[in-house]
Amino acid sequence: MTAAALSPTVPWQPAPQALSPSRQDFEIRRLDAPFGAEILGLDLSQPLHPEDFARIHAAHLAHHVLVLRSQHITPEQQVQFSRRFGPLQIHVQKKFQLPGHPEVLIVSNIKDNGEPIGLGDAGHFWHSDLSYKQQPSLGSLLHAQELPSEGGDTLFADQHAAYDALPQALKNTLAPLTAEHSYLARYEELRARSPWRPALTAAQLAEVQPVVHPVVRTHPETGRKALFVSEHFTTRIIGLPEDESRALLTELFALSVRPEFVYRHRWLAHDIVFWDNRSVIHLAAGTPDHLRRKLYRTTIEGDSPY
Ligand code: SIN
Repeated sequence: MTAAALSPTVPWQPAPQALSPSRQDFEIRRLDAPFGAEILGLDLSQPLHPEDFARIHAAHLAHHVLVLRSQHITPEQQVQFSRRFGPLQIHVQKKFQLPGHPEVLIVSNIKDNGEPIGLGDAGHFWHSDLSYKQQPSLGSLLHAQELPSEGGDTLFADQHAAYDALPQALKNTLAPLTAEHSYLARYEELRARSPWRPALTAAQLAEVQPVVHPVVRTHPETGRKALFVSEHFTTRIIGLPEDESRALLTELFALSVRPEFVYRHRWLAHDIVFWDNRSVIHLAAGTPDHLRRKLYRTTIEGDSPY
């Protein structure tokens, strides 16, 4: 008699090794830029081996911006990969959620029958995603769906390098300071010139109450300090007179995006760019109106800055 016949009620289970994903042979290569790396030969449509995930995680912390080339994945696979890093944040602009995928924000200048299909002016000013929330974003992923033949680049600025380069006296001044961040800081300005920004409902306004964060934050995983202000969302330094606050912010905005801290990403088809919002700020360089651009964004929740 066989062992199976002796225990007929035990359901069949695949051998444990059949469930484990296999390792992938991929390369992580520094970009020819002040920071950032590209990942070649990784296929995110396949289940990730924990050690491969650990390599990607370590590279994300080390390089701040990862360019994952040639990713032929579905929005659901993008959501699943993003979720490995933390819970996903739902953008306040619900109108531009991908149908069936509320975690995916459509970033696009395309209009369908005159109606925008996505947020066309996302990233118009330098910012760190969702810094206007009590728990801003850990990181964001953009997956290229449709790219223009010219323009459409995304710029990233390393805020650790920007902080490190400050004179010691300015570092001392900034150490105790906090600043207010507000989603509404430049909303009306953007709304006046774009078709993408509807008037916000009372519920949306309640979601985006101003918050206060340190001007210099400490990265919760690496311990490195970074400037944490941006021209898009930072409205004032708490406790300073308006003119001094404005002058200091203007100085910091300029220092934070000096050319030596900037990587300019020129998109290739099927790129995923995954950046660390605790380390960089970013800017959409703009796309000529007559050319189509569409990307899918997922945004991972992070910690309260300290
Ligand atoms: C964003 O700020 O999330 C959009 C950036 C881009 O469209 O390049």
